[in-house]
Amino acid sequence: MNPEQLKPQIHAWIAALTSLKQLIEYRNSLVGKKGTLTEMLKNVASLSPEEKKTLGKSLNELRADVEAELAKKEKEIREQELKTAENRFIDMTVPAKSHGRTQHPIKIVQSDIIDIVTRMGFSVWRSPTVTTEFDNFDALNIPSWHPARDMQDTFWLTDRRVLATQTSCMQNHLLRTQPKPLRAMVLGSVYRNEKIDATHDIAFEQVEGLVVDKNINIGHLKGTITTILTELFGYEPRFRMRPGYFPFVEPGMEVDLWWGSSASDGTASSGKGRWLEFMGCGLVHPNVLRQADIDPEEYSGFAFGFGLTRLAMIRYGISDIRLFHENKIEFLEQFTV
Ligand code: PHE
Repeated sequence: MNPEQLKPQIHAWIAALTSLKQLIEYRNSLVGKKGTLTEMLKNVASLSPEEKKTLGKSLNELRADVEAELAKKEKEIREQELKTAENRFIDMTVPAKSHGRTQHPIKIVQSDIIDIVTRMGFSVWRSPTVTTEFDNFDALNIPSWHPARDMQDTFWLTDRRVLATQTSCMQNHLLRTQPKPLRAMVLGSVYRNEKIDATHDIAFEQVEGLVVDKNINIGHLKGTITTILTELFGYEPRFRMRPGYFPFVEPGMEVDLWWGSSASDGTASSGKGRWLEFMGCGLVHPNVLRQADIDPEEYSGFAFGFGLTRLAMIRYGISDIRLFHENKIEFLEQFTV
């Protein structure tokens, strides 16, 4: 065998190396302690003096050539890697990639809701951060002596104003100022003095629908909820309405959502899943209408409200509510629109 013949092949392999790691491995396999060329050179010792001379010489030459070639390649790779590292500098003036725009999960569900209800003829409102004791409680049939005040651990300001505990705090304002018939949707952040854990935060997002017209009944409420939920989930989810207490609706109800491990499990035909408390609703209490100078004999209405934070957790399988406010890039960049 003439070692010269190996040269072109070895050169081609060296040329194909792309990383320092590869290069070191290849160098070891060839000229390392147990490398192929090293082994060949060792074997030369057992050959005849004549062969020793010629083969030994050309093997040594080959080894020197290979090492020079590897050194050249190593320099090349090191320079290349340095360049790539420099290129990692982020140029803030480059426009973001057009695909995969990210948005906060709460923003995504908010725009979904707005999109759905505006098509249904609702006007869209935002509830205030700070509201009055009257709007948050009294106007909603919860006078100061009423035990229902304790249902929501409220942040009180010094002047009897409060951080809104519910988007329902907009009801009186809407009933008073907007022409009837009324279809309004309120979005807003609400605040409760909760002990923070994986499912409770002191601030979360709610939405609230309020409809007032003549001869409104529970059928209208149920139909509206069905349409909104179907649009939201992309299929008609299975839900149940059961009695629930909210002082500003009569009758009051809670809507439980049947929640399965996959979208198809959430439909009526599937048996797998469990009930999740999802929203409060009911027919607007006559006292609430009276507080806004509306005659309950003439008008009736329904209201429903639910947590958008909760909805986002359900939709995206987010198990810890604190993630929404932590501003972690690893969390946020998962939500593309
Ligand atoms: N405001 C209620 C809550 O925060 C939800 C609700 C809204 C209930 C409208 C009935 C009607 O729990």
